[in-house]
Amino acid sequence: MKREVIIACDFASAEQTYAFLDKFANEEKKPFVKIGMELFYAEGPEIVRAIKKRGHKIFLDLKLHDIPNTVKKAMAVLSRLDVDMVNLHAAGTKEMMVAALEGLTRADGSRPILLAVTQLTSTSEERMHTDLLIPGTVGDCVCHYARCAQEAGLDGVVCSPLEAGMVKEACGKAFYCVTPGIRFADGAVGDQVRITTPARAKEIGSDYIVVGRPITAADDPVAAYRRCCAEFE
Ligand code: C5P
Repeated sequence: MKREVIIACDFASAEQTYAFLDKFANEEKKPFVKIGMELFYAEGPEIVRAIKKRGHKIFLDLKLHDIPNTVKKAMAVLSRLDVDMVNLHAAGTKEMMVAALEGLTRADGSRPILLAVTQLTSTSEERMHTDLLIPGTVGDCVCHYARCAQEAGLDGVVCSPLEAGMVKEACGKAFYCVTPGIRFADGAVGDQVRITTPARAKEIGSDYIVVGRPITAADDPVAAYRRCCAEFE
């Protein structure tokens, strides 16, 4: 399985996003990009089509979580956008994940990679206990959600790089671990909690790392992207 760096394009507008992506115009490989809620809600599906047209692979990170029928229908709409990867919250239950997979699968049997978000990397174990009323360790919860996602037929999970090893142990090597919460050893942490470096994420077993501010807020984003690729891929 080929490891890849995904850049989280957490920008407020299409204009800012294109200005950022233009910096990579001379790169040999077009970066795999993640479009999240902020940009998608601001610009709508057109931003997905436009970035796809520029030749980028796209992870559409909308983290769906609703009743199974609603998620199934929403996934069918996202599938038509020809994205490469989409996700939902495992907390929506196995029934919701099965419905999502059905909605996502096109008439010819093809579909984007479907991932389940386990616990957000901004959630500490203490918050998981006090706010979500989930006992045990974050690792227990992540592995349980990962097994549910696998049983539902999903391709992998979004989790902290620190949990990738235990997810692989629980679900096998072929089950994808896509991990945000990446920071350079000498960089700012921000609001993330369960974090590590690109090099360590590789050692633990991430298949894809999702990197936002360490690249988007860098003085030289292209250099920061190259550094991530060199450490991780
Ligand atoms: O800027 P930073 O590198 O923290 O960006 C991480 C990206 O990954 C953000 O777009 C965030 O929404 C996303 N993400 C996350 N934790 C998850 C799932 C997605 O940080 N569990």
